[in-house]
Formats: sequence, C-alpha cells, structure tokens
Amino acid sequence: MKLQSVLCGDLFKGPAIALMLFTTQVHAQNVNISIETKSNALVLQADDKKNLNTIYFGKKLASPAEYELIPSQFKQSSEYTSVLNSAYTASGSKSLLEPAITVTHADGNNSLDLRYVSHSVKKENDDVSVLSIVLKDPVYDFQVILNYKSYFKDDVIEQWSVIKHKEKKNVILQKYASANLYLKAGGFWLNQYHGDWAKEMQPEESKITHGIKTLDSKLGTRANLFQPSVFMVSMDKPATEDEGTVLLAALEYSGNFKTDIELDYLNNLKIISGINNYASPYSLKPNEEFTTPAFLYTLSNSGKGDASRNLHNWARKYRVLDGSGNRLTLLNNWEATYFDFNEPKLFDLLKDTKKLGVDLFLLDDGWFANKYPRNGDVAGLGDWEENKTKLPNGVASLVKEAKNNEVKFGIWIEPEMVNPKSQLYEKHPDWVVKQPNREEYYFRNQLVLDLTNPKVQDFVYGVVNDLFTKNPELAYIKWDCNAVIYNAYSATLGNQNHFYIEYMRGLYKVLERIRTKYPTVPMMLCSGGGGRVDYAALKYFTEFWPSDNTDPLERIFMQWEYSYFYPAITSSNHVTDWGKQPIKFRTDVAMMGKLGFDIVVSHLKDNDLKYCQDAIKTYNTIKPIIWHGDQYRLANPREGSIAAMLYLNANKTSGVIFNYLVNNRYDESSKMPIRLKGLDGAKKYALKELNVYPGTTSTIDSAKSYTGDFLMKIGFNPNINSSRTSVVLQIEEIK
Ligand code: DGJ
Repeated sequence: MKLQSVLCGDLFKGPAIALMLFTTQVHAQNVNISIETKSNALVLQADDKKNLNTIYFGKKLASPAEYELIPSQFKQSSEYTSVLNSAYTASGSKSLLEPAITVTHADGNNSLDLRYVSHSVKKENDDVSVLSIVLKDPVYDFQVILNYKSYFKDDVIEQWSVIKHKEKKNVILQKYASANLYLKAGGFWLNQYHGDWAKEMQPEESKITHGIKTLDSKLGTRANLFQPSVFMVSMDKPATEDEGTVLLAALEYSGNFKTDIELDYLNNLKIISGINNYASPYSLKPNEEFTTPAFLYTLSNSGKGDASRNLHNWARKYRVLDGSGNRLTLLNNWEATYFDFNEPKLFDLLKDTKKLGVDLFLLDDGWFANKYPRNGDVAGLGDWEENKTKLPNGVASLVKEAKNNEVKFGIWIEPEMVNPKSQLYEKHPDWVVKQPNREEYYFRNQLVLDLTNPKVQDFVYGVVNDLFTKNPELAYIKWDCNAVIYNAYSATLGNQNHFYIEYMRGLYKVLERIRTKYPTVPMMLCSGGGGRVDYAALKYFTEFWPSDNTDPLERIFMQWEYSYFYPAITSSNHVTDWGKQPIKFRTDVAMMGKLGFDIVVSHLKDNDLKYCQDAIKTYNTIKPIIWHGDQYRLANPREGSIAAMLYLNANKTSGVIFNYLVNNRYDESSKMPIRLKGLDGAKKYALKELNVYPGTTSTIDSAKSYTGDFLMKIGFNPNINSSRTSVVLQIEEIK
C-alpha cells in the first residue's frame, strides 16, 4: 500500500491541518480517495474495474491506511453488481436502484456506465479545497466530473457535478443529480419539513423503511412553500441536540428540487439530491457543460446542535451575503397600514421610526402603479412607478424625509410578478408565464414573469436599478415573491423542457447583475413567508423572512427549526400584533435574530413604548452575540412547557439566554433548572435579567455567581411562570 502525494502534492506543503484533507491510496488495483475534514472522512474507492464507489462516510480514522479495510468488515448480503454504493449511480447498465443520472444518448440508447478516470485537488486556502473526479463512459463520449468542496474546520462539504459529452447530436439528460451519498448504519431516521403559508417549517421525524422516500418541490418559484429541501438523517438512533450521528443537508437551489432517500436491500442508505427532473428532460449540446447546483451537507457525531453550529459558521464565513457583518433594525409599515397610506401618513411613520429607535423605515407593498393603482393585491403589480395619489412627490421625498429624521429608508418590491390588471400585462402579454391556449390560473391574483426571456431579465434588473439610480440613498430592499408557477410555459423559449431550469438561471443572472452593481445593500428574501430560502439565494440576500406568521408563540417553534439550518443573523423577525402575547414576549422572541417592528407605534401604551425603546437599546448591545455567537438550544418547546435558547460569544465570556413559557395550562412554570451548554466549566458567571418591563422587578439575583461547571451540570432557573412568560438573561463572566 502506498500513499500517493502526486495528485495532492501542494497539500503537503501546507500546515498540519491541510495535510489531512485528501489522501489517495493505491492498493492492488484499487484507488482510494478520502476527503477528510476536522472530524469526518468521506472515502471513495475506484475498484479494479474503475467503478467509483463510496466505501465510508463517518468519523475519521487515526490511520488513513485503514479506510481500505472498512468494506471487509461488512457482511450484509450478496452484492450482485458492485455498484450499489456507486458515488454517482448511472442508469441503464448494471444498477437497478434509483439513479443519480439517466440519459438518452444521441443515438437513442438509454444506457450509461461511468468509470473513474482521474482526480485532482485544488486547494483554495488552508480551510477550503475542491476535489474533482473525472468519470467517463467507456462506450460513449460522455463524462461527469464530481466536485467535492470541503470546508475542513466546519465539517461541511458542498458537492456538485458537471456533465458534458462529445456525441454527434444532443444528449437528453433525464435525471442529473448533484450528489449521491451512501451511508451505512444500524438504522436511519429522517427529519423532514413541510408547511404552507403561515405554517412553515413543520418538522416530522420517522424511521426510514425500505424503498424510496422523496422530498421534492414542483412549484417553480417560492419552491419551499410546501416542503423545503433541508432535512436531517440520524444514524443508529434518532440524534438529540447533543448526542448521536446526524447529517444535516440541503440543496443550494431556489427552484424545483428532488431528494430521493432510498434504503436498499442491504440496509444501506442512498441519498440522491438535485434539481427536480419533473417536466425537465434537458437537451445537452455537444461540448456544452451542465453544472448542477451544489448539495450541501455536514455530518456530526455529537448531535444536531453541533451540526447546526458548523453550518452557521460555514454560512456566515462563506455563503451569506455580508454574513460576518452588520444588519439594520427597522420599522415596516405593512401590518400598520397595508395598502392604505399616503405621504403625510408615511411622514408620521418616519417620525415614529426615529422615536422607536430603529435604524430604518421600510415601505411595503402599495406604493406604485397609476392606471391600475396598487390599492389591494388584485392590481398594479408590474407597474413600478410611484402612485401619484399616494406619493405625489415620489419615493425621493420619503428618502429625504427619512434623512431629516436621521433614519434610513428601504422599499418593498416583487419584481418577478405581474397582476393581469396592470399596464405591464397589457403591453407585454408574452412576458408572462401562462399556457397560450388555456385559462389563466392565479395565485394571490397574480402571475409570474417569464425570467427565461432576457428582455424580462432586463426589466426585472431595471426595477431595482431604477430605484437606486433615482434614490442613491436607498438603504434596503425587501424582495417578495408570492406566486407559484401554474401553467408553466414561455412564449419565447425554444425548448419548453428547459423552462424551470432557465427560469432559475434567469433569476440568478438578474441577482448577479444587481450584486455586481450594488454589492452590499442589504436585501431581505421574502416569499409571502419562508417559501424560498436556500443557500443559493443567500449568496445575494442578507436575510430572509421565515413566515408571515409572526405570532410569537408560533415563531418560537418555527425559528427553532429554521435555526438548525440558518444562523440567527439571517432570520428577519418582526414584532407585530399577531398573537395574544404582551409586547415584551413579542419583542423578546423577535430579538432572537434580526429585529424589526411592524406595528403602529402611536398606538402603543406609554409603558409598552418605553419597553420597546429600551429593548432596542439593549438589543444594540447584545446583537453581536446573537448574530455572530454560537447558538445552543437548551429547552425544546416541542418537548416541554419551556423553550430556552442560548447565544454565546466565542471566548465564552458573555451570552444571552431567551426563555419562554410555551404552555398556558394551570401552574405551568420552569419547575426544573435549565442546563446551560458551551460554557467554560472553570469560569465564574453572573446572570442578570434584561428586558424587564417598566414597573416590574426582576426576580433574578444578579449578585450571585456560579461556575460554568454548576450551570452546565445543575443549570439555572429563569423563574418562568404565568406572570413571567418571557425572561431574557444576560450571562457574563466575572473575574
Ligand atoms: C407578503 C409578505 O410576506 C408580507 O410581509 C408583505 O410584504 C406582503 N407580501 C405585501 O404584499
């Protein structure tokens, strides 16, 4: 057995951590390729016939040479084909299980067989490397390059494939997954999500049984409305917050996705994820490259909490626009006015923005369209000129007035959409997604613009560009997207089978153009709630809108689930009038992310206003920990009457704990102490209550101190009960 340094030569010059990233071993006829991150190894093997298989994904071994020995220790049953564990399952040849790729060659043949040819590693820095493995069909001039981008410190891998051929005519890609994982364990449990408007991110956990479980979306835009692509798989037993082996994964794609999870007859698990091939056979020209979106995953051996913190670190460092930066607190007028406003009313709201103490005023839907004024959701979408009745002096006058009030100004748009009752529709019916000979069918009284059409791409880009050109001081955009795609059809696209894919390509082209010209302006990704958030979109957006449901009790549950996949800095949480909880409860819940308000400030009682003003000042001091610290889930609202979440800074000296009563039955309270996590056992800490409502007194004794050891083994009681339903605690090291 020999260790090859040839292909990864430059890695061996790096520091110790990079040394372990990739190893290639040649044993007899086998080539073993291992991707090692801080805790794990994903080991692929090209066998004597050059089939590329996954032989291991799990905790890394002290001696990489022993990966070779792993397969011999599994005696599961007969493996008839030697490709059950294929690293990218091709169909039409030996494999009879769910394929990662299915093609129809130029000559009409449906078979594909992919064999290992070579691999190489490109090291981007000490943390990040890309392994590329070339696979080719021995019979057809058809190749797939599998790419694995690994982030060593965060145990994260992004995987995608690039498909290309040199056949005489087009090849039809019937299925074209991004990744194909193969896991071995003594049982698997799937944690998946479903939802609807105002009911996003509802979790369901089940033991995976034999056969295929598919998670997918066919909605075109706002693809996550019913089901997001994020999921978890626990191995050997259902993982808990701090124990067990668990994979957190998602497709980085804002359109139709499909993830097939197949427990095979050997009891191993195949996970195949990619763009949904539904109504989308892709006709690939000779020499054209088809690059799939990336499938993102992190594996933890210490439970969901550790996995989520790895994902958060990765997201803030490498993915979310300005993930390590700042965010603006805001006052939004949507629920305060809906469509019913005019300039004087908005001027008053601008004064209230200043009075409240937030950074920005966000003008929502209803500011545009004249022939068909946007006075409700039935008309005007697409006509992006200011409504002259409501805003006779335009947006410019509002930006100016915001400046006079020393706050920033942001604006809502929904540029991908059109109401049939609009001048845009009258002028460009061919820009609208609809079937030429069928009755139109609407979602929220609107249709989707055809972003496969470059002219429409220019139009959508122009909506944003015009706003910034006319109002250079515009400081924030809320980008909404409220309709799914019915009757998918483009009046200008040559091949309708490409519609869903070209729509996403068009959208990303527009966002790319916007970010080239306006690289830093914060933009919220909204989709009538969380119908679109994913890690492709978050390259362009600084934050997302998890749900229109802002009832704080509901939000505790929803934000909890989102938080496994997305860091708090990306979660736009607004205080509204939804729910029955007092303003303190509502504000405390909204603080667990990026705080905003969507209330009528002038309707607040004096103490409520004072509470909000003080809470915003407090938030400004603790927001760096909430946004950039480590998040520990302490008490799960689905498992008891209390929810508790801790945000802790990196050197474990300062943190914030949010505690809530989530059950209002008689005498429910925090009967037991809540065990803290992540602290330094040797440090001493004091806990002080924040956000104390005016006129009330905290029952927490901030003069007492506790060791981290005590707080993690015994815990701390926030003293939650029916008169203290929301308690925010600051924990500080004392020396
Ligand atoms: C849906 C969004 O989720 C709301 O916040 C609001 O912006 C409305 N659209 C406006 O139409």
